[in-house]
Formats: sequence, structure tokens, C-alpha cells
Amino acid sequence: MTTTLTIRRPDDWHLHLRDGAMLAAVAPDTARHFGRAMIMPNLVPPVTDVAAASAYRQRILAATKGMDFMPYMTIYLTEDTQIETIKAAAADAMILAVKLYPAGATTNSASGVRDINKVMPQLEAMAEAGLPLAVHGEVTDADVDIFDREKQFIDKVLDPLRRRLPQLRIVMEHITTSDAVDYVRASRDQSSEELTLGATITVHHLMITRNHILAGGIRPHYYCLPVAKRNTHRDALIAAALSGDSRFFMGTDSAPHPDSGKLSPCGCAGIYTAPVAMGCLAQVFDDANSIDALERFVSINGAGFYNLPINSSTLTLIRHNAPIDIMPPIHAGGEAVTVFDPMRSIYWSVAPDTE
Ligand code: DOR
Ligand code: ZN
Repeated sequence: MTTTLTIRRPDDWHLHLRDGAMLAAVAPDTARHFGRAMIMPNLVPPVTDVAAASAYRQRILAATKGMDFMPYMTIYLTEDTQIETIKAAAADAMILAVKLYPAGATTNSASGVRDINKVMPQLEAMAEAGLPLAVHGEVTDADVDIFDREKQFIDKVLDPLRRRLPQLRIVMEHITTSDAVDYVRASRDQSSEELTLGATITVHHLMITRNHILAGGIRPHYYCLPVAKRNTHRDALIAAALSGDSRFFMGTDSAPHPDSGKLSPCGCAGIYTAPVAMGCLAQVFDDANSIDALERFVSINGAGFYNLPINSSTLTLIRHNAPIDIMPPIHAGGEAVTVFDPMRSIYWSVAPDTE
């Protein structure tokens, strides 16, 4: 028996689309399934002002022409970001957040923030204007173990920042630890006021652990940042996603890299999940006997955080009787890009007529 599930059209609140040939190759994969997405600004050079964000948005619209897809933009925070830029971003309905990359934390983060104290005026202006801060929450100190970097960020950077600027709205992006789940849960009791702390969770962090990367051979296609942790952390993320708590919502962090960049002695971080994200996510919820909780996580909670309406259109997922085939690599500018394979049976896919 084939089962179907129809939900409000989902959104992706954390997405890398790149530029040029890669943008053209990957943007339709997201636009087929998601109504809206929040686009990350870590291009080379980064998107650091409103004019660059608007121009990039036009290129995204061109790459998804004729599709019902709304890209929202982010501005890359640097120690030189002008207060005028913050004010202009807050006044632009297409810009949803400012992105904090600690310098050196991940792909194209060299222009990021070295010292959070140097951007306090910008963060104060954001708090004043109600413009959220999206954080890549990892410290970058060479002597901090890579598996501890998220927890250290919470303790050393995030919590002090929230105490200093309690009105600043913050999204912890792509959380990977039970420490982050606990921190978000403890942040305040849910009430009718606007949330000041939320967190996105990726599809891959709900499915893989560090064993996928390292046990039985090294698998570079599972390497991303923050790096996947042990299974107890993954289980805490699954519990958060299933819980319905409005502070947790889906952001794929789909981050395409050519295979030549991934399969190298110093491979880059990022997993291309966009085309399979919805089927994989449905499998995670189904395996937990919680398929009914999927819509809140992927179609409702994030819109609520960003004060946007829920999409009026829908997406239908189909549960097949046999596992679906692994998706072959896509091609961008003559290079192959491997699509995420969670190394387990996936029975769910998106119904083609609702793509
Ligand atoms: O794995 C990742 N890839 N994590 C990030 O934070 C950035 C992203 C990318 O841009 O490739
Ligand atoms: Zn990202």
C-alpha cells in the first residue's frame, strides 16, 4: 500500500546556493520542493551589504525563473560592517538576518568576526531594529577539540552575548549537540511574546553520526561543519525536531561542493542535500512514528520565528513499498556534485506533481 502525506509547502531556513554555474545547477533542486529559503552570504567575496544581497537575489530569481520560490537574503557580518548597512538591511523585507561567522570557522569565513566585542555596535543596532543574528556557533581556537567547539561557543560567546543584549534575536544555525538543544530549551518558557532564541537543524545531522564519517573507512561526503557528533547528540536533535517546540525549525545547510573539492587530502566541508532533503526528513519522522510532527518542523515553526505567514501551497510526499534509488551526482560547470546518501533505506519521496 502506498501512503501519501500532504503538508504546507516547506521552507529551508539555511541554504547555500553559491553563484554562477553552481547556482544554476542547484537552485532548481531547492525551488522544486521548498517555498522559501534563507540564503547564506558566504560567496567569494562575501555578501556584505544590501546592494550585493539584492544583486545576488536577482541572480537566484533568474536561476529559478518560472518556479514558485522566494529567496530571502542574509548579510555577512564583518568587523567593518557599517551601522548604516544594518539599518538598510533591517528596512529591506527581503533580508531576514545578519550572519555571524567566527573567522576561520568554515568555508569562506576568513572575513568573519575575530572578536565579538568589535561588533557590539552592530549587534546593538540589530537588537534595536529587530533584525535577527544567525550564528555559526563554533569557537575556532586551535587548541579546542573540534567536537567541543559548539559547546564552547555556547558557554564562551553565546551566553555572555545574550546576557549583554537580551533583546537581540538569535538563531543558532545547524545545531549538532544535546548541549545546544538544552540551551535553546532552557532559554525561556514558551509564551506569546516573540521568541528571542531559535535553532535550525539540518537533515544530515538528524541522520548521521561521526561514525558515518570515520568508521570502516573515511567518507569525505559526510564531512561538514559543525562536524557530526556521537549518536546521543543526534538523538537529542531528533527529539527536538519531533517535539513541535516552535524554537526548532529546519534549515538544510545544503552546501554543494564539486567532488574534486571534497575528495582531496584537505577536503572541504559541506553536504549537498537539497534534492533528497524532504524524502530523508520524512523517513526520520516516520521511523520515530511521528510523521504528523513533520509539518510543524519544516513548514510552520521557521515562518513563525521570522514573522512570516505559513505557505498557502502544499507539498505531497509518497511512501513507497520499496526503498527508493540513491540519487546520482548532479553536474555543475563540468564537475560532479555528489548528492547526500544517508546509507539507510529511504521509502519517501516528493510526489512529482507537487514539485
Ligand atoms: O559544512 C558546511 N559547509 N558548513 C558551513 O558552515 C558552510 C558550508 C559551506 O558553505 O560549504
Ligand atoms: Zn551553512
